[in-house]
Amino acid sequence: LAHYCVFGNPIHHSKSPLIHAMFAKQTAQSMDYQANLVPLDGFAASVQQFMNAGGKGANVTVPFKLEAYALSDQLSARAAMAGAVNTLTFSDGAIVGDNTDGIGLVCDITKNAATPIRGRRVLLLGAGGAARGALLPLLEEQPASLMIANRTLSKALDLVQLAVSSDGSKCQIEAKTWEQLDSSFDLIINATSASLQSEVPPIPASVFASPCLAYDMMYADTQTSFNRYAQQYGAATRDGLGMLIEQAAEAFFIWRGIRPDTKPVFDYFRSKEG
Ligand code: ATR
Repeated sequence: LAHYCVFGNPIHHSKSPLIHAMFAKQTAQSMDYQANLVPLDGFAASVQQFMNAGGKGANVTVPFKLEAYALSDQLSARAAMAGAVNTLTFSDGAIVGDNTDGIGLVCDITKNAATPIRGRRVLLLGAGGAARGALLPLLEEQPASLMIANRTLSKALDLVQLAVSSDGSKCQIEAKTWEQLDSSFDLIINATSASLQSEVPPIPASVFASPCLAYDMMYADTQTSFNRYAQQYGAATRDGLGMLIEQAAEAFFIWRGIRPDTKPVFDYFRSKEG
């Protein structure tokens, strides 16, 4: 039996153990996956303990993704670009760090929501860890343009610099504050943490092209404040449930070499809401 876990604090709300249990059953993998509550000052020690006990890999969630990045002996290109790690693989005592959040987002948009990113005008709201993690996978889809908007302009400018330095494509990349936004977009991704406080970044109504998809990376049992706002302006909306399941599927693939079918898992969680 191969052992995996998710490290976080808090962790009781995590859906990852159930998601991975469903993947494991579906693909007949002999593994278990536990939630691991880590003391705020005990991340490195908890990882070491889990490795010593024979653990094969782990996911990492709030607030340890930056520590996981620092602790990794090797990093994937997407984890290096994200500056954060959500997936650890333990191999011969070495810690390999990856980040599957951005690819989970892109996969959910392009495959599950059947919305191409290539050639489209993309607006990314926020310039924190979640936005940074989405950057490289989004650019790899070759959008026509990428606008990064944030409350604090300097942070958006930092992300633009990072994107420009890593992006070989001809994608036009710019930064603005909310009130400077004066054009429309086909895809609007909310990577701010505003929804956690039931707030909405004050973006003008004119950003919503017709048609457009508004995607809130946050997931809750009820519609997020951002998606409610976007719907008023005619946008199709999607929340972060699909991203959550796709980032897990990518981690599962890294560890087990098999891609689980995410649809029944998505349908199960959606059916439990409300
Ligand atoms: P995360 O890891 O979730 O990205 P973070 O790195 O703290 O968290 O980043 C939070 C992001 O949400 C930032 O872009 C932040 O804007 P600032 O850079 O100006 O701080 C944004 N944010 C948080 N609360 C917000 C709010 N109420 N309205 C708009 N933006 C908000």
